Order: sequence, then structure tokens, then C-alpha cells
Amino acid sequence: MEIFVTRKIPEPGLELLRKEFDVEVNPYDRVLSKEEIIIGLKGKDGLLCLLTDTIDKNVIYSEPKLKMISNYAVGFDNIDVKVATEMRIPVSNTPGVLTDTTAEMAWALLFSVARRIVEGDKFTKSGKFKGWAPDLMLGQDISNKTLGIIGAGRIGTTFALKSKGFNLKVLYVDSFTNETLENELDAKKVELPILLKESDFISLHVSLNDSTHHLIDEQTLKKMKKNAILINTSRGPVVDEKALIKALTKGWIFGVGLDVYENEPEIGEELIKFQNVVLQPHSASATFETRTKMALIAAENMIVGLKGKIPPNCINVDVFKDKS
Ligand code: DGY
Repeated sequence: MEIFVTRKIPEPGLELLRKEFDVEVNPYDRVLSKEEIIIGLKGKDGLLCLLTDTIDKNVIYSEPKLKMISNYAVGFDNIDVKVATEMRIPVSNTPGVLTDTTAEMAWALLFSVARRIVEGDKFTKSGKFKGWAPDLMLGQDISNKTLGIIGAGRIGTTFALKSKGFNLKVLYVDSFTNETLENELDAKKVELPILLKESDFISLHVSLNDSTHHLIDEQTLKKMKKNAILINTSRGPVVDEKALIKALTKGWIFGVGLDVYENEPEIGEELIKFQNVVLQPHSASATFETRTKMALIAAENMIVGLKGKIPPNCINVDVFKDKS
């Protein structure tokens, strides 16, 4: 069988795939256009794609032989899973292996904003440090504050559990009761307005869908504390960036740490200018260990899926319902 890989992933994943299939990899070090993906997919049985690829119905319909889509990411909002399911094509993702890594980045952003790490680094390196001063680079304590988790799934839970040691009060918003958080941290499940009103730090861990698009908008930002720090390592469109810029301009919140953007990879000029905004290039899962594990999992999903079996991380198991 033949597969198309839309961007070079770590070699161990490609090696695994090459043992089983003829593998064609995007030869360029860049995101392919939709047209280029369609060309690459021609005659292929499997598609291994990235979160930067839009796999919509045009792509899915373009290749009648297509039998498996393996996404090299935990998020899969880049794929029209409904269409894939209608076409009885299994779709898989790479959950689990990037949970700690992403939670660590959320903490790194929170510390950076609260303690003004990036600003302090620039200040010091540029020779502006002229000696200790009582009011130099004042930030916020992390310990003994209230942490609000929006989306208490795998990553949200792990992020919250890492707060042990900082004696934080933990609030969370989710449709399910999270026993782990309640038992281990005495966390409280609350409605969104309560979380916004009471949290000093708010971290977003929801997947992107119609109900979470612009979940953080002007109204929700206005409800946050003046000292609130907002962290987003989920998906950019969960935050209305225009509203966020307004909130920063008007000083409604203390600061923001972002790994993801509404119109990625474009980042508005206005967002860049704030000192109290720390930005990362969608790199929450970017460690050597995790990216390699993601490649192995994506490859394994592809191998199992193309054997006609349920891939270990299948998103649309319904595809297999009537298959014997
Ligand atoms: C994912 O896998 O969805 C992450 O956003 C990658 O960094």
C-alpha cells in the first residue's frame, strides 16, 4: 500500500511506516497547499497529516482509494471527521504522549507572564539593569492563588495536578465531574461566570468546536479579575483575539500567555506590542521526546488502520460498526 505524509515527521515514525508501505513524504520544509495535498494523495491508501493541513471534503473526496487518515496531533479540528466517517475512513490522533509536555508549556507561560520573565530577560540583556530596586519588575505570586481550568480533560487535569506544591485553590469548568481533581486537589466544579470572577489564573484546555469558538470574548474577559492571567495552549479561535486586544489595551486583565492564535500563523501587530503578553509559536508539544512519540503513534495508527482494524487512537470508531 502507498501512503502520503504531508510533512517530514521524526525519522523513527517514518522508518516504521517504510517497513510496511511505500511512503511519499512532502519534500519541502513547509506546509503544503490544499492543491498540493490533493496531488500528493493521488493513488494513496493512507494520509498522514498535520494540524496545519486542512483536510476537508475536497481533499477526502479527491482520492477514492483513501482508507485511513492519521493526524500527527491530538487536536483534529483540521479534519472534517464527519465527511471521513460518511466515507467510512477511520481518522486517528496522538493523545496521551503530549499531555505532560503541553501542560508544562502552560505552566511555563503562566510563570513567564506572572513573573515577567521575558520582559526581565530583554531588560537585563539590553543593559537597562542598573541595580536592585524596590519596584523593579514587580509581578505576581503564584502560590496561594486561585487557578481556573476551562476544560478538565487529559491536559487540563495534568496541568492542574502540577499545581501541587503551590497551594492553589482549583476551580474547573467541564460538563463532567472530574473525580481526580476533586479527590487530589479538592477542586470545585463551577459554572463559567464563577470561574471567571474568582480565578487569578485561567488556563484553556478545550478542543475547538462550535461551542468553544470565541468562548473567551469581550463579555467573558470583562468578568475576569483585573489581576487575571489568561493562558491558551488549546486552539487559537477559542479566544476572540480582537476582544483580547481590547482587554489588554483597557487593562481589564494582568497579562496573557499564548501558544496558539486565531489566524495561525498570522499574529496581529497589536498583540505583539504588549509587554505583558508572552507568545510561543504553537510549540506546546515541541520536545524531542514527545514529537518522536507522536510520530510513532501516528505511524502505528496508520499501520493498524490500513490492516482494516481499529487504530489504537481512532476518533470515529463508528466507521467499524458494521464491519465484521
Ligand atoms: C496538538 O497535538 O493538537 C498540539 O496542538 C500540537 O502541539
